[in-house]
Amino acid sequence: MTNPIIAPSILAADFANIQREVEMLNASEADWIHVDIMDGVFVPNISFGIPVTKAIHKHAKKPLDVHLMIEKPENYVEAFVKAGAEIISVHYEACNHLHRNLQQLKALGCKAGVAINPHTNVQLLEDCIGDIDLVCLMSVNPGFGGQVFIENTYKKVRQLKEIITDANATTLIEIDGGVNQDNAPKLIAAGADVLVAGSFVFSSEDPIHTISKLKGV
Ligand code: DX5
Ligand code: ZN
Repeated sequence: MTNPIIAPSILAADFANIQREVEMLNASEADWIHVDIMDGVFVPNISFGIPVTKAIHKHAKKPLDVHLMIEKPENYVEAFVKAGAEIISVHYEACNHLHRNLQQLKALGCKAGVAINPHTNVQLLEDCIGDIDLVCLMSVNPGFGGQVFIENTYKKVRQLKEIITDANATTLIEIDGGVNQDNAPKLIAAGADVLVAGSFVFSSEDPIHTISKLKGV
């Protein structure tokens, strides 16, 4: 089993010291920086937007993995690419024309991701799996950090892995929400490739060490 890709979520960082927090991630074994964008419409919370993403990118030495929890993502993806996003996930539930959204992301030179809510069946991605670089499986209801991991996620990882393998696709499976030291090994065993972790990393005494432990699961 290869080591997972670790993507700490900057949502749990100290926003008053964003440069310091990004430099900590630069110095750590984190592979990507997960950037959570919430619009107060698709999800019942507002985080931050394009200027803050740009500020994070200015200091980041690692790819920005931008998770758009917003309505009408097609109107904003170009601005997020310009702000420094390398991977963008749009929500399945926010896209009437997902295939078109995926083509748009690719045309912008960005890795195309799709995030799905806990209630959304992975089977719904079967017909476009070959066009998806990354599926962000939500293991909490999107909108807030620090929530409890939903156990049904393991089953979804296994089902999604089967769809990807059957299609001969190279899609990565990312898990987002409530990830910690206990569930991480089980998620990797089920077929997950990328682990997002917010509060588990930033609330720990030594985030660099916590990231390293997650990397080594
Ligand atoms: C939830 C966000 C997550 C969140 C993860 O809406 O998409 O990325 O920041 O935070 P934790 O790891 O604290 O659940
Ligand atoms: Zn996220």
